[in-house]
Amino acid sequence: MEKKLTIADIIAMKAKGERIAMLTAYDVSFARLLDSTGIEMILVGDSLGMVLLGYDSTVPVTMAEMLHHARAVRRGVKRALLVGDMPFLSYQVSETEAVVNGGRFLKEAGCDAVKIEGGFAVCDTVRALVKAVIPVMGHIGLTPQTASQLGGYKVQGRDLDSARRLVVEAKALVEAGVFSLVLECIPAQLAEAITASVRVPTIGIGAGPHCDGQVLVTHDLLGMFEKFRPSFVKTYVDLAPQIRAALTAFKEEVSSGTFPDAEHSFSMQAEVKDLLDDKGA
Ligand code: KIV
Repeated sequence: MEKKLTIADIIAMKAKGERIAMLTAYDVSFARLLDSTGIEMILVGDSLGMVLLGYDSTVPVTMAEMLHHARAVRRGVKRALLVGDMPFLSYQVSETEAVVNGGRFLKEAGCDAVKIEGGFAVCDTVRALVKAVIPVMGHIGLTPQTASQLGGYKVQGRDLDSARRLVVEAKALVEAGVFSLVLECIPAQLAEAITASVRVPTIGIGAGPHCDGQVLVTHDLLGMFEKFRPSFVKTYVDLAPQIRAALTAFKEEVSSGTFPDAEHSFSMQAEVKDLLDDKGA
């Protein structure tokens, strides 16, 4: 069996100039598929609120929902580093609550690390989590849990002040103890500057090619989330129309009586059938 990846392996990849691939999973089937590709990190993202649960944003997602899905994913992951996304208000109220909730991702769901969104505002929380031996991945730029305060789902760090702030926030998070940093929806040149200025790996999403790694929502790259498609997402296969065609074919074959056919039915031994017929059953 291949060796399970550790935080140290992920950090070492940056030093060796090796790119890190991360994708989201919310259930055991996708977890198994993703793990079999050799991907380095799997994120149980709070994006599951929009992708799986039908919420309009990630804000309503609860700890119970995250832990339920994280446990399922854990059962399918043997090699990749598993990161659980802490949902809105599970780490903002107090450092104690953050440690208790962060600990639940490790103790109850078997995650290897947690991810939290925010810059200066969460540095003390990162310190508290790290002190409690809970590895933390940071997340700056477009932070979906606070998208309404950022003016919606918009590219961040386009002007000098906000770009400088993001560089300083990235360094502050690294000093606070994050082992890795998601950079979401920022200009490629800014992501390059941040990547060069921090010792931990940066993982980009809509942040250009110069990050140490890349993450996407799996359902986006498979073309399974039809509500909207961010322009930075590459759709590697457009599955939604193919899935719909298969489901429609099933519906039509059931309606017309062509499914199930003999190939997909069980038959009985002839003598048993004769006995049944004799008894008028
Ligand atoms: O929730 C999520 O899926 C995420 C990634 C897109 C980074 O936070």
